[in-house]
Amino acid sequence: MNAHRRSALRALGGLAALLALNPATAQMPNLIKRAIPSSGEELPVIGLGTWQVFDAGNDPAARAPLKEVLRVFFAAGGRLLDSSPMYGSSESVVGDLCSELNACEPLFMATKVWTRGREEGIREMETSFRRMKVKQMDLMQVHNLLDVATHTRTLLDWKAQGRVRHIGITHYTASAHAEVEKTLKAAPYDFLQINYSLGEREAEKRLLPLARERKVAVIANRPFAEGALFRRVRGKPLPGWAKELGIESWAQYFLKWILGHPALTAAIPGTGKAEHMADNLAAGRGSLPDEQQRRRMAAYFDSL
Ligand SMILES: NC(=O)c1ccc[n+]([C@@H]2O[C@H](COP(=O)([O-])OP(=O)(O)OC[C@H]3O[C@@H](n4cnc5c(N)ncnc54)[C@H](OP(=O)(O)O)[C@@H]3O)[C@@H](O)[C@H]2O)c1
Repeated sequence: MNAHRRSALRALGGLAALLALNPATAQMPNLIKRAIPSSGEELPVIGLGTWQVFDAGNDPAARAPLKEVLRVFFAAGGRLLDSSPMYGSSESVVGDLCSELNACEPLFMATKVWTRGREEGIREMETSFRRMKVKQMDLMQVHNLLDVATHTRTLLDWKAQGRVRHIGITHYTASAHAEVEKTLKAAPYDFLQINYSLGEREAEKRLLPLARERKVAVIANRPFAEGALFRRVRGKPLPGWAKELGIESWAQYFLKWILGHPALTAAIPGTGKAEHMADNLAAGRGSLPDEQQRRRMAAYFDSL
């Protein structure tokens, strides 16, 4: 092994180094990327959600496994990290660990504004910049449409000034999709973040076609329906034909099904475990199912 490779492996450290030493993973293909329609910038299709799992406070023991998650994520070329001031200490944990790992530069940092009122929104977003240690936010989203008209005015100004690069809205439940649809038509958002998975398919009726029509990037949140999908398939085998689609686990089955939809830009599974991160990243390599394959995958899941 040459000196350059040795020092690169030292820099990776921990589980990521183990992955790099494994000849099977050393030659791993890059993650599939999709273009953000409004900017043309390409994003890897697998991101990382930080709700609950990254709310580790200042406890070094609670932060250590999260650092491994991020090492694995960065080693694979992951970029999109999604947080919110609603997620306790997550924004700070993300900011601190990214800076410890010296990996902040090529990242795509996404967070949210989750409060009422213009001044309060500005104060909260400025706190997010400090916590995540960025001067410019790659994506600022209005969380669950809370006071969306007020924050959208601020965000359009901030985008014009270059303080944020993209703006978006988020929600997590089908009961809000009608309101999301109305909002999406009201302003030039770059991103929609919405619940979409084999367990929650409602977005494909109106929101995903609308996003395509308006050239809005889509991030799927709750890709495992907050873990419920794993409980649903516990003890059930993958179908024999899953291997032909490059699928080795249920997580990859769920994620590839989501990402096969042409409106999708990325999915952001949440995990606090490095081995789950590696599993999820594998769904972003190789090929993605076409419409017919997705129908077969959904039918098999529904039959369980
Ligand atoms: N309104 C909003 O804006 C909104 C709402 C909801 C979510 N979100 C965003 O979307 C992200 C994802 O949603 P979510 O975290 O609620 O749910 P999720 O990603 O659907 O599911 C997370 C659960 O799946 C487990 N998991 C992850 N990878 C796994 C794997 N390979 N094998 C087995 N289990 C696995 C995790 O446990 P382990 O830790 O054990 O892996 C965790 O319990 C959030 O973190 C957040 O960033 C946004």
